[in-house]
Amino acid sequence: MRRAKILGLGSYVPERVVTNEEVAYLDAKHVRQAEKQMETSDAWIRTRTGIEERRYVPSDGSTQCSDLALHASRRAIEDAGCTPKDIDCIVLATLSPDIHFPGTAVFLQSKLGIDGDDGCPCFDIRQQCSGFLYGLQMADAFVRAGHHRRVLVVGTELHSHSLDYSTRGRDVTVLFGDAAGAVVVGDVETDDPREGISYVKLGADGSGAMDLHLKVFDVSKMPHIEYRPEWGTADVQYPQMNGKRVFLNAVRAMNLSTRAALEATGLTWSDVDWFVPHQANLRINEAVVHYAEIPPEKVLNSIQSYGNTTAATIPLTIDHHRRAGLVKKGDLVVSSAFGAGFTWGAAVFRV
Ligand code: ACO
Repeated sequence: MRRAKILGLGSYVPERVVTNEEVAYLDAKHVRQAEKQMETSDAWIRTRTGIEERRYVPSDGSTQCSDLALHASRRAIEDAGCTPKDIDCIVLATLSPDIHFPGTAVFLQSKLGIDGDDGCPCFDIRQQCSGFLYGLQMADAFVRAGHHRRVLVVGTELHSHSLDYSTRGRDVTVLFGDAAGAVVVGDVETDDPREGISYVKLGADGSGAMDLHLKVFDVSKMPHIEYRPEWGTADVQYPQMNGKRVFLNAVRAMNLSTRAALEATGLTWSDVDWFVPHQANLRINEAVVHYAEIPPEKVLNSIQSYGNTTAATIPLTIDHHRRAGLVKKGDLVVSSAFGAGFTWGAAVFRV
């Protein structure tokens, strides 16, 4: 029986480390000022979110979201033991695309050198923090149906260009960082239902759409476009969040979807190597671990080092702990995510 399996995984974070202390002093160009630009503190950010630092790309416009995706994709492709030419479909999840359209997946395809007359199909998907799990389900379905044999699934985010570095934006700005994570999903012949990707279930509730939203894509990410004041005020151009509602809904959805994943697959936590939650807030994850009765020693987080990197967090967290020697090839992972939309999902797969 044909099943889909994660053949390779990779991630990428930019070099620049921005600490909680430093983020308070940055201007919109990420230049450290002598005076605080944002009223916040290391203590507030650590206590409320668990975040200690995050990574930013250079602020000169030289790095695009597709560049982060490129680095992570190359690593995943190498890890899968294949070459870019073997990729026959790209699914790219981001809320911070290179430009408004076309989607970022086609830019990634070009940068991978696999564009041209025989170019593979490329999809951009818009499910924010749940984007990676949505992409994984698409890849799983494409491979099992025989449409594609090597699907590159990428979560990539360049947040740092489009955040409000004044006190007005502090509830959102301190949370986010730049990163990308990728996997190659390919076919495998097996009758073992626990091989490869064994479960993905997704959900959405549009009644929460405006609890975390951005009305207008920030043009400052496009250095070739000059901003005009008539395009609107800060509340239109920067992400707006009802943090408490997002928090409560995230805990509820991630708890229920994680429980459902175990029930549907017949697994218990002793069968599972790792629980990898989306990284939005360490307190959300601690609450999910409590309510879903997950053994704490099986939980992987990385938000302390990278902040919330939206669609990238799940492959980034797995890769972070794999490079540290904790996660091994073939380990069984249960993952769940929740994000803007609201959207959510849970998955069970071997890495
Ligand atoms: N530094 C200092 N003070 C701050 C900051 C900051 N960075 N941000 C907010 N505050 C202040 C508020 O203004 C408020 O002040 P007030 O009491 O004088 O009005 C006070 O701190 C408390 O604010 P709350 O919003 O009540 O703080 P809370 O404990 O709820 O934490 C947080 C806020 C961290 C944002 C939390 O609500 C949260 O994590 N929410 C969920 C975030 C999330 O999951 N996002 C979804 C994923 S993103 C995606 O899908 C794109």
